[in-house]
Amino acid sequence: MRLRVMTERDVPGGLRLNTLSGWNQTAADWHRFLCNSPRGCFVMENHGKVAGTATTICYENRFAWIGMVLVDPEYRNQGIGTQLLKKTIEYLDDARVATMKLDATPLGKPLYTNLGFVDECEIERWILKRSAGTRPALCAPLGEIPMEQIFRFDEELFGADRSFLLRSLFAEAPEFAIAVCEGGLPLGYAFGRCGLFADHLGPWMARSRAAAEKVLQEFLSRSSRETLIVDCMKSNSMGVELLSAYGFAPSRLLTRMVRGSNVYRGRPASFCAILGPEFG
Ligand SMILES: CC(C)(COP(=O)(O)OP(=O)(O)OC[C@H]1O[C@@H](n2cnc3c(N)ncnc32)[C@H](O)[C@@H]1OP(=O)(O)O)[C@@H](O)C(=O)NCCC(=O)NCCS
Repeated sequence: MRLRVMTERDVPGGLRLNTLSGWNQTAADWHRFLCNSPRGCFVMENHGKVAGTATTICYENRFAWIGMVLVDPEYRNQGIGTQLLKKTIEYLDDARVATMKLDATPLGKPLYTNLGFVDECEIERWILKRSAGTRPALCAPLGEIPMEQIFRFDEELFGADRSFLLRSLFAEAPEFAIAVCEGGLPLGYAFGRCGLFADHLGPWMARSRAAAEKVLQEFLSRSSRETLIVDCMKSNSMGVELLSAYGFAPSRLLTRMVRGSNVYRGRPASFCAILGPEFG
């Protein structure tokens, strides 16, 4: 077994692991990590085979996100997950990142608790399964997307500038970049991804219920997939109500956890949906 930095050649191995776990990420997501964090993603390799992974991504040195903590089912309960996690913590400590965050599955949570992460809030994954042909009619075009204003708004809520990620989502799935504006100012916005088995809405943010609903309706009409997923902040009653009203069902709970000082908190409760557990 060898723990080393992940490279582009490991992407098929990473994709194999997330597929085995029923996760929705694509090769584009792995490339997004490697492109933004070329020294901060790791694999456990066994004779050329990727047996485990963990990624990090830094947001302006304010905080970093740990994600894609995955171990091949054949190799679980041998300490590989813990070793990968310790490696990411060591890497971030060396980079002098004071705050580490992640969104934990119930399987991953004990590992993180053992390494000093504490609970911050809860996120619920919601799924909509619909049959082909049940899409609502296309909404009217929404006009220009005021990107810079959206980036500043997002920074205020997220706690750091992540426009580099939002730009990459926009480049890959421009149809899911949605903005509801009034007087040129965004009242609500969203980005999205075409995942392995579902289209994924997030981040999704709105200042009012009407704007949130309009964004959701747009996403529902722009996606052509039968399965849609959204990771909603549990405390955001607006998001929860709208998802229920549009037929989504809760499927699993994630716990946002933090290690170290938590200075740049942002306003997570203001998000209807996060970008995704692997990015925050
Ligand atoms: C969560 C996950 C990454 C853990 O990986 P792992 O390699 O099995 O993790 P570890 O082996 O380090 O730890 C798992 C358990 O095995 C125990 N363990 C560690 N080394 C061991 C050994 N040599 N012998 C027996 N047990 C051992 C650990 O103490 C831990 O037990 P605990 O949960 O009661 O504390 C893995 O289950 C996984 O890929 N799950 C699916 C994806 C997922 O949910 N990832 C987490 C995202 S937040």
